[in-house]
Amino acid sequence: MRVMEKEDLPLIAEWFSSPEVFGEYNTLRQMSKTEAEKMLESPLELKQFLIEKKDGSKIGFVSHFYVLHPAARHLEIGYILLPSERGKGYCTEAVNIMVDYLFLSKESRRIQAQTDLRNIASQKVLEKIGFKKEGTLRKNFFVRGEWRDAYLYSILREEWKDPKILTKTTSD
Ligand SMILES: CC(C)(COP(=O)(O)OP(=O)(O)OC[C@H]1O[C@@H](n2cnc3c(N)ncnc32)[C@H](O)[C@@H]1OP(=O)(O)O)[C@@H](O)C(=O)NCCC(=O)NCCS
Repeated sequence: MRVMEKEDLPLIAEWFSSPEVFGEYNTLRQMSKTEAEKMLESPLELKQFLIEKKDGSKIGFVSHFYVLHPAARHLEIGYILLPSERGKGYCTEAVNIMVDYLFLSKESRRIQAQTDLRNIASQKVLEKIGFKKEGTLRKNFFVRGEWRDAYLYSILREEWKDPKILTKTTSD
């Protein structure tokens, strides 16, 4: 995984504009390269990390951003994999790395994620990593012409305990 650079933005705009890539659980949108650039300057401090395979091909991304509240700033994550690369464990590995990175580098007590009630693959990713389902956010996303409910998941620092991947060496 690596931080997204300016030269990646045309590809990101293409992914964001593709119903196949964004799937049936994300808001359908059409994004220009200029808009993709603006997204990285968002006040939520959005950071995108590309997931690359060893051969250099780009297969998806994981992002983190802040959800602002007068009394707190909560870290939230999101992720997308290219359809041809799903079901191979890549997202679980990438989100594990992101959780390690965030708890090692930020003072946050919790990391949260939201997922459509029907998005079983996304729920499995979160549960395998140790996220707990907190409840249902009613009519939370407007996707494909309808308001959909979402589950709110979170993992607390004390539930994470130790890095799973990021600081491990080959001898571990
Ligand atoms: C959600 C998503 C990121 C998961 O990525 P992935 O790399 O396929 O996930 P993994 O392979 O690491 O693990 C997914 C788990 O869900 C399972 N799974 C995958 N697709 C599934 C499906 N359609 N229905 C049920 N389970 C599914 C896998 O078998 C695996 O479980 P297992 O380890 O028990 O076998 C990917 O499907 C995706 O990009 N979807 C579209 C965008 C999206 O929904 N993003 C999340 C928004 S919250």
